[in-house]
Amino acid sequence: MNNTNKIDLVVIYGGRSGEHEVSLLSSRSVLDAINKDRYNITEVGITHDGQWLSGENTWEALNSGNTHHLVPVTLLPVPGSDTLFAISGTSGSKELKPLAHIDVVLPILHGTYGEDGTLQGLLEMADLAYVGAGVLGSSVGMDKGIFKDVMRAHDIPVPNWVVASKKDIQTNMDAVIDRGELVSRYPLFVKPANLGSSVGVTKCKNRSDLFEGLLDAVRFDRRVLVEQGINAREIEVSVLGNDQAIASLPGEICPRLEFYSYRAKYIEDSTELLIPAPLDEKTIKHIQTLAIRAYQAIDCAGMARVDFLMDRDSGEVYINELNTIPGFTSISMYPKLWENSGIPYPELIDRLIDLALERRQSMDGIERSYGEMHG
Ligand SMILES: Nc1ncnc2c1ncn2[C@@H]1O[C@H](COP(=O)(O)OP(=O)(O)O)[C@@H](O)[C@H]1O
Ligand SMILES: [Mg+2]
Repeated sequence: MNNTNKIDLVVIYGGRSGEHEVSLLSSRSVLDAINKDRYNITEVGITHDGQWLSGENTWEALNSGNTHHLVPVTLLPVPGSDTLFAISGTSGSKELKPLAHIDVVLPILHGTYGEDGTLQGLLEMADLAYVGAGVLGSSVGMDKGIFKDVMRAHDIPVPNWVVASKKDIQTNMDAVIDRGELVSRYPLFVKPANLGSSVGVTKCKNRSDLFEGLLDAVRFDRRVLVEQGINAREIEVSVLGNDQAIASLPGEICPRLEFYSYRAKYIEDSTELLIPAPLDEKTIKHIQTLAIRAYQAIDCAGMARVDFLMDRDSGEVYINELNTIPGFTSISMYPKLWENSGIPYPELIDRLIDLALERRQSMDGIERSYGEMHG
């Protein structure tokens, strides 16, 4: 806390993943809406190649790529430093100068190096409070294969799947296809284990589609899923909270294209959002319960958007994926669902920051040195 009694908040956006631009859109909305009387904000933009930068108009600089006036910044992985440092000097001799005090960090980064537990690990090392899931929840939420393993262990329904490695695909494609065809009848979906925005996702109607889909997906990841295709309605639920999380009413995504592809998400713009989703009471309760069970099963905190596939024929509900840092523009599903459930966008940001501070405090009571005390 500084002498103005405002909370010192560091907002981090951009990042090294393919969802850099989506992160810029999300963070723009957050920066525009956030209550500036409550926070003293320092912005950190991470470039495509992983440089952390800060300064005047950080967001505009990152968005335009014209970043020469920004200064490189960093955090130290040391408990209690609570400081964002500016790095100065030449490559031979670097110097760190304190730039801002930190009470809490708000990472608005989608995908690898932001949503997958790596950044969260750095923030844990530094004992900093931060918004969203910790290392475990983030990394399990990111990996679609491991996530499904955990769901299955908790009896939470997911479409059938197998995982194939890049090596298998490169050296033994026929066997991978045979294994994929055992998952279910066509259509099958192929997707990289760790990605978002539908990049590398293919709907496969026959063996040759599956061949092409596997080759495409493996461009983006070392591990690829082949999944049972569900003729589904796509239902999404927002979850908010730490140990006692709550679920919003569900919303529905109605893509006009064959599925909710990259094209449908960012190019065609014809997808309709139904908020709330037209569902009966019982189904709503069932979906909300599954969302919270999934959230708790992977030890989430703060927030997550849980995405479902609801079979149009049988009515069966499956979890498709869980996003620990969901799209956060003012028109994104996550905040829209909360708005519909009575939490306006700026208040949602306040709640998330309070949850981050609460989670950090709850860590203080945890004993870390059993050996010393009892040994
Ligand atoms: N098993 C499946 N059955 C039917 N549609 C699917 C399936 N898996 C993915 N899809 C479609 O592909 C889209 C993107 O897949 P998803 O697993 O959500 O990846 P991403 O993390 O890129 O959003 C989904 O929104 C849905 O339209
Ligand atoms: Mg998705």
